Amino acid sequence: MKARRVVITGISGLVGSHIARRLEGRCEVIGISRKPGKISKSILPEAFDITDSRALVSFLERTEFDALINCAAQADVDRCEIDREEAYKINTEAVAVMADFCKKHKRLLIHLSTDYLFDGQNGPYSEEASSNPINYYGETKLEAEIAIRSSGCAYIIVRTNHIYGNLPDGPSRLVRWLLENSEIKAASDQYNNSIWAGSLADSVIELMEMDFRSVVNIGGPDYLSRYEFAMEGAEVFGIDKKRVVKSSIKKLGLVAPRPLMAGLIIDKMKQILKTAPVSVVDGLKKVRDGAL
Ligand SMILES: NC(=O)c1ccc[n+]([C@@H]2O[C@H](COP(=O)([O-])OP(=O)(O)OC[C@H]3O[C@@H](n4cnc5c(N)ncnc54)[C@H](OP(=O)(O)O)[C@@H]3O)[C@@H](O)[C@H]2O)c1
Repeated sequence: MKARRVVITGISGLVGSHIARRLEGRCEVIGISRKPGKISKSILPEAFDITDSRALVSFLERTEFDALINCAAQADVDRCEIDREEAYKINTEAVAVMADFCKKHKRLLIHLSTDYLFDGQNGPYSEEASSNPINYYGETKLEAEIAIRSSGCAYIIVRTNHIYGNLPDGPSRLVRWLLENSEIKAASDQYNNSIWAGSLADSVIELMEMDFRSVVNIGGPDYLSRYEFAMEGAEVFGIDKKRVVKSSIKKLGLVAPRPLMAGLIIDKMKQILKTAPVSVVDGLKKVRDGAL
C-alpha cells in the first residue's frame, strides 16, 4: 500500500518516533500521544489519551488516513505488573477499539507486539509457537493480538523484542543505563535478539508498502544475553568493561518475571523483506552517533 496519510500512536516513543521520521516526505503523518512533543515540523501532533475510547473513536472518525500504526503501549513491564488496570486499558482495550474501527472503516491496522507472549522456556520463537505469557505485560499484549484477529480487520502484527535507540527528546534509555551507572548489572541468563529502533522502523514501513498481512517476527541478527549486550555496549561507548557486572534475573529482583530464553526466529522476515536489520555492534554505533 502506498499510504497517503498515516496515523501513528506512541509518536513520542522509541518506535513511533523512528517510524515517523522515516515516513516524512513520503506521506502525511499524524502522531498521537498524551504529550506528543515536537518530532518535526511536518508531523501533525494530536494530544490525547488512547484509553479515552470516545476521544479515540472521535479522532479516528474525523481523520482521513490509510493506515493506523499502533506504537502506543505501557511498555514498562514492571509497571504493568503493579498497575494492571492501566496496563490493560492501554495495551488491550484501546487496541480492541482501534481494531473494531479499522474493520468497520476498512483501514489497515499495524500493531507492535512482543516476544513476552512466550514463557522463555525454549526460545527463540517462531510465528507459530504457542504463547504462554509469564507476566501481566505479556498477557495484555496477547489479549490485544486476540482482539485484533477476532475483529476481522486487515492487520499486520509485528512481533519484536528488546528495542534500543535514541528518543526524540534526549538520551536513550540504553545510553542512560550504560553511562549513568557506576555498576552496570546485566543478566547473563536472559536472551533475545535485540533490534535497533531504526531497523525495526524500516521493516514496518516495508511491510506496510508491500501489502503484507498477518503476523511476522522482526528481530535483530544476534541472539545475546543482556550481559553480552551490555559488554558490546561498553565496547562501543568506550566504557570500562569492569563496570559491567554479570547478574541474573533472579538477583536483579525485578517486579515482573521475565522469560529467559526469549527472542524471535526471523526466518520469515528474511524471506519476505529486502531490509536487513543491522547487527548489535552496528546498531549501538548508530545510537552512540546520535542516529534517529
Ligand atoms: N521497547 C521494547 O524493548 C519493546 C520490546 C518488544 C515490543 N515492544 C512494543 O513496541 C511498541 C512500542 O514500544 P516503545 O518502546 O516505542 O514504547 P515507548 O518508548 O515506551 O513509547 C510508548 C508510547 O506510547 C504513548 N502512550 C502510552 N500510553 C498512552 C496513552 N494512554 N495514550 C496515548 N499515548 C500513550 C507514549 O507517549 P505519552 O507518554 O506521551 O502518552 C509513548 O509515545 C509497544 O507496543 C511495545 O509493547 C517494545
